Amino acid sequence: MNSVVKEDIIDHKTAPIRSLDDIQQPIASELASFKSHFRKHLDTDVFLLNRIIRYLMRMKGKQMRPILVLLSARISGGISNRSYVAATMIELLHTATLIHDDVVDNADQRRGFLSINKVWKNKASVLFGDFLLAKGLLVAVDSNEFELLKVLSTAVKRMSEGELRQLKASKLQNMTEEKYYQIISEKTGSLLVACCECGAISASADDQVRERMGKIGHHIGIAFQIRDDLLDYSQRKTGKTSGNDILERKITLPFIAALSASTLLKQRKMRWLFRKKGKNAADVDYIREFVIDKGGIDYAAKKMEEHAGKALILLNEFPESETRDLFSEFIRFVIYRKK
Ligand code: IPE
Ligand code: IPE
Ligand code: MG
Ligand code: MG
Repeated sequence: MNSVVKEDIIDHKTAPIRSLDDIQQPIASELASFKSHFRKHLDTDVFLLNRIIRYLMRMKGKQMRPILVLLSARISGGISNRSYVAATMIELLHTATLIHDDVVDNADQRRGFLSINKVWKNKASVLFGDFLLAKGLLVAVDSNEFELLKVLSTAVKRMSEGELRQLKASKLQNMTEEKYYQIISEKTGSLLVACCECGAISASADDQVRERMGKIGHHIGIAFQIRDDLLDYSQRKTGKTSGNDILERKITLPFIAALSASTLLKQRKMRWLFRKKGKNAADVDYIREFVIDKGGIDYAAKKMEEHAGKALILLNEFPESETRDLFSEFIRFVIYRKK
């Protein structure tokens, strides 16, 4: 298989999408307010913390969660000061969990930079992640936003459960598609549910709206993580090391689907290879090609599109508006994004 084909494995059905810049443009001033809130909350005079924070500020993420909070608030009634509190909290918590996740996953790269654990080692990373987590929760406490605090604490708890379940699953012989969905709805879906719910809470007192937004967040979360798992199988530059899930023995949907399409003999062979510690580049390539050949990429892409479709159907229960169109574009971005 030549390298051009490999580069494009997850893009064969990519429809044209609006860039994230385009999606951000109509809410640019609100996002600027969020950014100043975020920076303000990261102020500290502890020397080592300051050095890490300065580094962190250069590693710009996509900020999809704050965008989702703002869009959810807008579609539920309008952005308020509470929406900024929610967006700031969520981005702090997200950053904290990424730092911890990179320790767990032994990751060297994040957002195109060396990961915090690569530069400052695991011990400082765990402590720094704790610091950001506490900072995030304090944002709500400081503004007396106990309802938001409750939603977010629940999300963080579910994220940790998902990460732990995943850690255990890598040692299990029989990782199933069902367990995979459970893991990703906990580790990723939970925070996206929180984005949509907090957005709704900050804009409306209607429980039905909140519930609908929570469901939308759930489906976006599943689709988002499947896309992330597909990106790991592609070889495009995402700012993270491609193939790290394979190296770290993290079983995701493309591999699960490829196994289901294989003979028992082949399954045994591929399971053994997947579980091997210290795989070399040829092992990773072999697994990647097995997954492509057995239709694992296509299957995962199909499931991802199904979840995005469910989110879009729920979204269409809101009346037609410019915000609703923007929200649909956001969902399309989630599943066709290149990083
Ligand atoms: C990465 O999230 C973690 C996952 C849940 C897959 P993002 O892809 O949103 O990370 P940043 O913030 O843009 O770096
Ligand atoms: C999501 O899973 C991690 C969190 C929920 C924190 P991944 O481990 O796949 O995320 P990346 O690929 O490292 O960003
Ligand atoms: Mg990871
Ligand atoms: Mg990943």
